[in-house]
Amino acid sequence: TTTQKPWQSVFRPNLFTGKVALVSGGGTGIGRSIAIEIACLGGTAVIASRDEEKCKLAAEEMNKQVSITTNNNSTGKIIPGPSCSIRDEDQVENLIAFVIEKFHRLDYLVNNAGGQFVCSAEDLSGKGFAAVVDTNLKGTFLMCREAYTQYMRDHGGSIVNITLGNRNGLVGMSHSAAARAGIENMTATLCNEWIESDVRINCVRPGIIFTESGFKNYGAMGDEFLGRVIPAQPAKRLGSPEEVSSAVVWLLSEGSSYVTGCILAVDGGSAYHFLPLLDIPDSPHLPVYGTLPRKAML
Ligand code: ADE
Repeated sequence: TTTQKPWQSVFRPNLFTGKVALVSGGGTGIGRSIAIEIACLGGTAVIASRDEEKCKLAAEEMNKQVSITTNNNSTGKIIPGPSCSIRDEDQVENLIAFVIEKFHRLDYLVNNAGGQFVCSAEDLSGKGFAAVVDTNLKGTFLMCREAYTQYMRDHGGSIVNITLGNRNGLVGMSHSAAARAGIENMTATLCNEWIESDVRINCVRPGIIFTESGFKNYGAMGDEFLGRVIPAQPAKRLGSPEEVSSAVVWLLSEGSSYVTGCILAVDGGSAYHFLPLLDIPDSPHLPVYGTLPRKAML
């Protein structure tokens, strides 16, 4: 007979001791919070972005945060990776190889890097559309493929792809909504293709999360956006990065060992509450059919 180890809750300190994670876009915003949480649980979190210098500085600051949060009781640390644009196949290959060469393992991958800009579809160029799809969708694919072929195919692993609420499309972000929905459907495929290697792959779909770096991206539009978006949230507030990272570490951990291919929304219920980022204008062109009284349209 085999003796089973006594059951232990997954929620415990140093859960990730000895584990290695790679978090793209890990120096700021949601990615920063994910990497810090992994390190606070004892794991090594390699963070990567296009700007290697910024990444190094971020890692230093983040390691201080980990020490403070855990009273120096964590085995975890944050390590800056080489510069990597996830759009570039060679750079992605190089980033994954760096992690494996340095740590001889890659247990967890978090595809958090990405981005978009607000633009109505009629004003969006083919180049702009392609750039957003390239970064978010192709970039995530390349990272998944390299993590799988270079390590996880032979050793198992857990991947979390960070997407964006897109249940009702995303007015003003047709490129990003299409890319994020693409990531989610690609995840559904990969969870089946890779289960034989004990690789789980899931998505976390945040609603609107407040991060300084995120809102800086949108400039003056960011403030206007906050003014109209907060009261329109079912929860009357935005989410915090920590509310996303706790979901991510659960999906990375053995606590979710029978969960693969899922899309976990962390959005305060906003997926069920239509909220256009851009105004949908009134129009004299909207036809009225049948017997619906005109006043029912107003
Ligand atoms: N964030 C936005 N675009 C990116 C890219 N091409 N590579 C990595 N992180 C990004």
